[in-house]
Amino acid sequence: MKKIQIINGPNLNLLGKREPTIYGHSSFEDYLQVLRQRYPDCEFAYYQSNVEGELINKIHEVGFSYDGIVLNAGAYTHTSIALHDAIKAVTTPVVEVHISNVHARESFRHVSMLSAACKGVILGFGLDSYRLAVESFL
Ligand code: DQA
Repeated sequence: MKKIQIINGPNLNLLGKREPTIYGHSSFEDYLQVLRQRYPDCEFAYYQSNVEGELINKIHEVGFSYDGIVLNAGAYTHTSIALHDAIKAVTTPVVEVHISNVHARESFRHVSMLSAACKGVILGFGLDSYRLAVESFL
């Protein structure tokens, strides 16, 4: 049984309602059901926060015992050296994900403070980006 922590950052609690032409019509809770059905041998924990320090606390909490962390840090991706340091500080590998193709959007989204600290990056495949990140841990 692989233990995988999914962490969503700011504004991702509004998935399904927020800019659906970019982020789709499904809530993350609904998508999580799809993931759980598809990977019965994985134990998924899910956490969302709009607060940077809470995301860091969650990485510290699970980052020495889980098999993988799938992290969509939302806009903190582009700004947070503290999240970069948190990813480096733990032993659990972290895969950075984005729903949208950030490189096809505004230039301020082209830079990630997190990618260099992560095992890999998956972006632009809609919610399927999370599934592809899960695959990378199997
Ligand atoms: C996002 C891309 C970020 O630039 C943005 O701030 C988000 C969502 C994505 O999943 O495409 O909140 O991480």
